[in-house]
Amino acid sequence: MRFVLNVDHVATLRNARGEEQPDPVTAALVAEEAGVDGIVVHLREDRRHITERDVRLLRELIKTKLDLEMAANEEIIKIACDVGPELATLVPERREELTTEGGLNVIDNISLIKDTIKELHDSDIEVSLFVEPELKNIEVAAEIDADYVELHTGVFANAVTEADQFDELEKIRAAVKLAKKLGMGVNAGHGLNYQNIKVFREVPDIDEVSIGHAVIARAVMVGIKEAVREMMRLIGG
Ligand code: PXP
Repeated sequence: MRFVLNVDHVATLRNARGEEQPDPVTAALVAEEAGVDGIVVHLREDRRHITERDVRLLRELIKTKLDLEMAANEEIIKIACDVGPELATLVPERREELTTEGGLNVIDNISLIKDTIKELHDSDIEVSLFVEPELKNIEVAAEIDADYVELHTGVFANAVTEADQFDELEKIRAAVKLAKKLGMGVNAGHGLNYQNIKVFREVPDIDEVSIGHAVIARAVMVGIKEAVREMMRLIGG
C-alpha cells in the first residue's frame, strides 16, 4: 500500500501568521526524503491553506507524484489542466467546513463530474473521485470513466464501538472489491492515524492511503525537542 502525504496543514500554520514559514513545499521535499510515495494538496476556492504558488512549485520540485485535491470548479479545473498533476482527486467543497466532510454526491452531480473528468483526461490527468464506500457510488464512478475512487474513511475513523468500526470496514472491503472488479484503482483517506491504520491495513487491495492531519500533528510533537535544543544552543543557556 502506497502512502501519500497531505501537507495542507503546514500551509495552514504558515498562513496563520501571514508569513513564509513553515513552507508546505519544503515539508513535501523533506517527506520525499523520508520515503513518501506522493504529495497531496487541496487547492480550495478560498485558498485558506494551499496557494497557487505552492501547487506550481510542488509541480516543479517534487520527484514523486502530485495529487491535487479539488472541487469541480471552473477556475480550479483550469489551474489543474495548466499545472498537470499526476492525479486530480475531486472532492466536495463547502466554504464553512473545517475539512472535507464526506464523499462526493456523484449520483446527483453526474453530468458535472463526468464533464470534469473528461476535461482533466484531455490534459492527460488521471482522476480519482472521493466517495463514501457505497456500491452505487463505485458503479457510477466506473460508468463516468474515473480512474480511481478514494474511499472516505472518516466514518470508520470516527466509529466509537468496535462493532461500528467492523461494519464500516466491511463496507469499505465491498467497495474495494467492486472498484477493482470494474477496473479502477482504489485509494482511501480521511481520519487515518497511528492507531487505526493497524486495523485498516487488514483491508486488501487498497493501492494508496492519503494521510494529512495525524502525520503533521505527530511531526510537531517529535520535532519539538530538537527545535527547543537548537534554540537553547543559540541562546547559550
Ligand atoms: N483525502 C481527502 C479527499 C481529504 O479531503 C483529506 C483531508 O484533507 C484527506 C484524505 C486526509 O485526511 P486527514 O487530514 O484526516 O488525514
